[in-house]
Amino acid sequence: MATAGDIDFSDIQGLVVRGYGGLPEACYLLLRIREREPARVWLQARLAELSYADNRPRQQALNLALSYHGLVALGIEEEILVGFADPFRSGMTTPHKRRLLGDEGGSAPERWQWGGPDSPPVDILLLCFADGRTRLAKLLASVTDDLDSHGLTEVARLDTQSLPDFREHFGFRDSIGQPYVAEFDRQTRADRHPVPLGEFLLGYPNGYQRYTQRPLVEAGLDPQALLATDPQGSPLRDLGLNGSYLVLRQLAQDVPGFWRFVRDQAGAGSAVALAARMVGRWPSGTALVQSPDGDVPGLEDKDNFAYHASDSEGLKCPLGAHIRRTHPRDSLAPEPGSDKSIAFSNRHRLLRRGRAYGPPFDPSADPVRYLADLDREPEPVERGLHFICLNANIGRQFEFVQHTWASNPNFNGLYRDPDPLIGARTAHGQRQDQFTIQQRPLRRQVRGMPAFVTTRGGGYFFLPSRRGGQFLAQRPVRQRIANKRAAD
Ligand code: HEM
Repeated sequence: MATAGDIDFSDIQGLVVRGYGGLPEACYLLLRIREREPARVWLQARLAELSYADNRPRQQALNLALSYHGLVALGIEEEILVGFADPFRSGMTTPHKRRLLGDEGGSAPERWQWGGPDSPPVDILLLCFADGRTRLAKLLASVTDDLDSHGLTEVARLDTQSLPDFREHFGFRDSIGQPYVAEFDRQTRADRHPVPLGEFLLGYPNGYQRYTQRPLVEAGLDPQALLATDPQGSPLRDLGLNGSYLVLRQLAQDVPGFWRFVRDQAGAGSAVALAARMVGRWPSGTALVQSPDGDVPGLEDKDNFAYHASDSEGLKCPLGAHIRRTHPRDSLAPEPGSDKSIAFSNRHRLLRRGRAYGPPFDPSADPVRYLADLDREPEPVERGLHFICLNANIGRQFEFVQHTWASNPNFNGLYRDPDPLIGARTAHGQRQDQFTIQQRPLRRQVRGMPAFVTTRGGGYFFLPSRRGGQFLAQRPVRQRIANKRAAD
């Protein structure tokens, strides 16, 4: 394990270590590069304004990531581009990825509002955070007023919405379950299993005690020595070090549809209990495995539980619940309950950093209020989650969780059961729309579960380190040296 003293936090973008919970207003800007040289000038100015992990901003923060298309648009040389991971290079909308991520039918990329094959390419993602609306508006004005003159076009502006009690739109508290990265924590947490730093940041050992593939650059391509040397000791420079991959998905949520379905299945009195079984937590955040029969105060933000010893059969928290699939903890074969099982699960973790968007169905974001009047909206209202996660290996982490755990109808011995929130409802042409509640003497099955979440946009981005960002914004050196020579 790297010790905190070995890590240069001033080189790491702040979003890696914090979700900026103290800055409740946020907006994500998606930009396209029209002209390389002026865009590079703009990029250099923004890089100087970013927030890094060594400083907790109190008023506002900016972070920045680039898509693969963006790196190409900046003129980064092919010999550097080949070092980036394949999922990042090929993107989210290839035929294979659509199947893998369940982006078909209503979620097909052709229907996306941004990031799809029929919408303009997204090159830069600028994440803006502020402590209030006025400051966010000012920040947005300052970063967008010179876009056009710098050869940049705004493709989309993704607004966000803070809901009460850190809830998401279905009415459940969110952002509780997060990986414990010991290097990011001032206190040692003996009750948690640390996840290696290299699972989230490039340039450090990962869960296999290896270095995840990352772009390494010949020293000759970095004449100003902007990049650090390869921590593995080769003569190459490390463009990946202290960087990460960022996944962004705009996921629309059908809130009345979700609650109507659970009410019709369970009856109004038991709707919250059924929905809690689908999520794996009560709306307050209390985990079902810790309190299966009803919510109890004081357990809302607990994240230090496991499943095997107390609930191997899913009698407290169903085996197919959202949180049990997306982070099975110690519950998976071949040795459930063992450190091996936890280590296996920990090789598929995500640092979640997303935020809700759109107005709440009720200002309280409380399901009990929702259920009191599910017909309050005459027209459908657009709302959902701008899901963001950071990971060092998109294929082994985000894509694996979405495909192999969330959309897998046979997850943990189930049959035709997808993740009730985010799992695809068809696989290989077959419907998979059940949710099973393990109970005695007979399990209960909910059938005909429609999709409650629809993908509206998405993309993979590279979140560079401070040094990596400076290097990328100055490329391509060779071409500029050649131009200068020609001009001389
Ligand atoms: C609109 C879509 C989604 C909704 C409404 C949603 C909702 C929730 C809620 C309510 C929780 C419980 C709170 C917590 O433990 O932090 C949770 C946890 C989690 N979700 Fe989601 N989620 C969505 C999409 C996703 C996606 C796309 C993924 C990954 C592919 C994902 C992965 C996770 C993980 C890893 C956890 C933490 C599990 C744990 O550590 O116990 N979620 N989500």
